Amino acid sequence: MKVKNICCIGAGFVGGPTMAVIAEKCPDIKITLVDKNKDKIKLWNDNDYKKIPVNEPGLISILKKVRNKNLFFSEDIDSAIVESQIIFLAVNTPTKHEGEGAGFAADLKFIDACTKNIAKVATNEKIIVEKSTLPVRTAERIKEIINNNNKHGVKFEVISNPEFLAEGTAIKDLYKSDRVLIGGDQTPSGKRAVTELVNIYKRWIPLKKILKVNVWSAELSKLASNAFLAQPISSINSLSSLSKVTDADIDEIAKAVGMDKRIGKHFLKVSPGFGGSCFQKDILNLVYLLRFYGLNEEANYWYGVIRINDNQRKRVSSIINQYFTDKKINKKVGLLGWSFKKNTNDTRESSSIYVAYNLLNQGFEVLIYDPLVDSKKIIEDLKEHNTNKNLFDSEGFLKSVHVMNTIDSITKSTKVLAIMTEWDEFKNIQKLSEEIKIFDFRNILEKSKTIFSF
Ligand code: UDX
Ligand code: UDX
Repeated sequence: MKVKNICCIGAGFVGGPTMAVIAEKCPDIKITLVDKNKDKIKLWNDNDYKKIPVNEPGLISILKKVRNKNLFFSEDIDSAIVESQIIFLAVNTPTKHEGEGAGFAADLKFIDACTKNIAKVATNEKIIVEKSTLPVRTAERIKEIINNNNKHGVKFEVISNPEFLAEGTAIKDLYKSDRVLIGGDQTPSGKRAVTELVNIYKRWIPLKKILKVNVWSAELSKLASNAFLAQPISSINSLSSLSKVTDADIDEIAKAVGMDKRIGKHFLKVSPGFGGSCFQKDILNLVYLLRFYGLNEEANYWYGVIRINDNQRKRVSSIINQYFTDKKINKKVGLLGWSFKKNTNDTRESSSIYVAYNLLNQGFEVLIYDPLVDSKKIIEDLKEHNTNKNLFDSEGFLKSVHVMNTIDSITKSTKVLAIMTEWDEFKNIQKLSEEIKIFDFRNILEKSKTIFSF
């Protein structure tokens, strides 16, 4: 089969950058990104590149080359399905809020709905690629849905090709992936489908970095990788309190530990807790799977990584609260950074949301600034968090939230700031007057300039 058309359902943080890079590397293939959110498609097509919904360094310059040449953003999902040979599923898979497995299992309703639709409208052979992070054995479920809805008796192969890119460095990660994992059935047609995808990636990824595995290993490797990545963050965060009470220095510890090659230096940076769309969701999902198979001790082990993360967020909130209580000053604090890490406008599971919410609950007025996240999104995040926690009256608590456009406008009303995200521009605040007190929860400033760092 000569692949001429690819479609990707879900034009989000994963679908957008991934398809942009494939389009750039495969000028002979037409790629159509579709999304049920029509406003999002409009933004991807906007003449003003600043409006595209995903902020990733390097993305705009690729779009300038490929958009409307071989990369198209379209609202017409069904036509894109019909004309493509390969369909990527990159829709979101959030943690379930209700029903069986609530609070742990991944919600597959979007995957199910998209699959059903593909089965209904497809008129010729398709390869479906799981790009979203999914619990192990989802491919089986996808096949079952297809078999129950296959209107035109079409042949389908389901393969798994999990994405390992990190936000903020997505383009760099896609250009130079450590590995590309492609999992398929060990049948002749399963192997052919895997080869089609290998043929695409091998245009820029060396073959030795493309791993062909069985579909279940591919699905489980993604959960495993995220669990392993989150683990050292929780490990270092869990020692940040001990180092504080013993006068050890957590950055020195991280350096010493990381210089052991068997451990490695990455993901040992202390923080107010990890955020992002993957770590928490995927570990909870792993915990759910382990429990499902009766592996309770193993489930508790991984759940510990999440519990330490929750604890870190609570600890940060109480450090701030304690300061105001001790000083007997007006509870008004500036939070710097809302995204879950620098260089992204994504706020999913950001520790800032948790900490702001805890502070509001303790009677604080909170002033917030982020270089890329606007007030609408910040308020939305807090409201959503409130719905899940059900603590406050629906609107009441928002009176104590003020989203500001600059750090200066915050320091006009409060002299106490807390760095939540490690944005480069926050490094300059050590130049602010001594009157300004800074909690540095990312350890990015000189310690002498702060009232707290880990
Ligand atoms: C990705 C992965 O796909 C997810 O499994 C992983 O764990 C986190 O990263 P991401 O790209 O970050 O998700 O999500 P998001 O930016 O929310 O994009 C998903 C898109 O899919 C949204 O734009 C949404 O509108 C779209 N969508 C969702 C559809 O087009 N159809 C649906 O049925 C559901
Ligand atoms: C992660 C994985 O890295 C990626 O491979 C996977 O595909 C998706 O999930 P992402 O969520 O984009 O990517 O960001 P990542 O850079 O992993 O950071 C996650 C969180 O951990 C952030 O909140 C970050 O600030 C925090 N973190 C990271 C730390 O607190 N300390 C560290 O040392 C590293």
